[in-house]
Amino acid sequence: MNEVADCPESEVEEDLSNVEKVSLVGAGPGEPELLTVKGLRLLETADVIVHDRLINNRLLAMARPDAEVVDVGKIPGGGRRQSDINNFLISTARQGKRVVRLKGGDPFVFGRGGEEADALVAAGVPFEVVPGVTSAVAAPAYAGIPLTHREHASSFTVVTGSLSGKGGGNSPDWETLAKTPGTLVILMGWRNLSDIAAKLIANGRSGATPSAVVSWGSEPWQMTATGRLDSIADIAKSQGLEAPATVVVGDVVRLRERLNWFESLPLLGRRVLVTRTRNQAGLLSRHLGELGATPIEIPTIDVRPPHDYSKLDEALAEVSEFDWIVFASANAVRAVYDRLVATGRDSRSLHGVSVATIGPATADAIVSLESLPI
Ligand SMILES: C[S@@+](CC[C@H](N)C(=O)[O-])C[C@H]1O[C@@H](n2cnc3c(N)ncnc32)[C@H](O)[C@@H]1O
Repeated sequence: MNEVADCPESEVEEDLSNVEKVSLVGAGPGEPELLTVKGLRLLETADVIVHDRLINNRLLAMARPDAEVVDVGKIPGGGRRQSDINNFLISTARQGKRVVRLKGGDPFVFGRGGEEADALVAAGVPFEVVPGVTSAVAAPAYAGIPLTHREHASSFTVVTGSLSGKGGGNSPDWETLAKTPGTLVILMGWRNLSDIAAKLIANGRSGATPSAVVSWGSEPWQMTATGRLDSIADIAKSQGLEAPATVVVGDVVRLRERLNWFESLPLLGRRVLVTRTRNQAGLLSRHLGELGATPIEIPTIDVRPPHDYSKLDEALAEVSEFDWIVFASANAVRAVYDRLVATGRDSRSLHGVSVATIGPATADAIVSLESLPI
């Protein structure tokens, strides 16, 4: 009773009236474009983003420039404990700030999103969940392994491998799992993979079951090892795979041989420096990304209007005297057209002059002028 009496009523009301909603947003497995449309909108408008350790920097770059971006390992005044994270979310929301709690994969799949939501409810802070693409599905998909297939598996089971050796209360029931038909997906099982495989085999799964380990799924440095269940741990280690990794056990792994689309991209793993202007880099970066490359945009060119237009104006004033105009870039096309308009002319003043362009993008820029109002 004393505690209630000690807390001035006005303060309680202020907290509650000011409180903002916390959005628990799934970031997907790594590839930034796997973020949902809703997740992106929230990320772009949040005041504070509290993110897990493995979140891709390209996602964090989508935040508002003035947003506070907090790694959960570096909560101000706190530490890595779940209670510190919960308290930080609660106190930030109570300051009236829009918080996005950005979590790898899906927040409610082995992501402690349930615990955070529970703490918010207990504190009277409203929240929403924006599901993400879980690595349990995405990592196999990027390795060319469908979890179900009419001829191979009609179900899949997702389990944690983190408690495999300890027999703790939440440890998966490996005996039952060994006998469960369908595909088995194991998250957090990398470290214990030899033990897990041994338990499955001891309980009836064939040692010859096709198995895969997908490390850093959906990232340009993704690696996948495949083999029999009884040797997959050694194979993956000998190939240098690392955490985070998702393990897939089941006949569907055979399909990778034909469906391995991602690791076959011609530029996968290559970093390509894009030096075009900031406005023009996007399209090239997108094409490079589609081929598997990681574009790194460092514009070395900045296109600006000239300080002095007199030379261009002189040439444009007598443009009909020229036989040819050769445009060497789309920027030149736009600059000349803008100047024609600014000086009270339009493309009709180029009548009779032959026009040449260098490169298809420059030609496209000329063609697009035809659709502009004259
Ligand atoms: C704490 S769990 C979080 C799972 C996450 N909430 C999800 O839905 O993907 C972390 C585990 O997810 C898996 N994982 C996360 N990112 C991965 C990736 N890019 N590739 C493969 N596995 C990944 C690994 O098994 C890792 O140990």
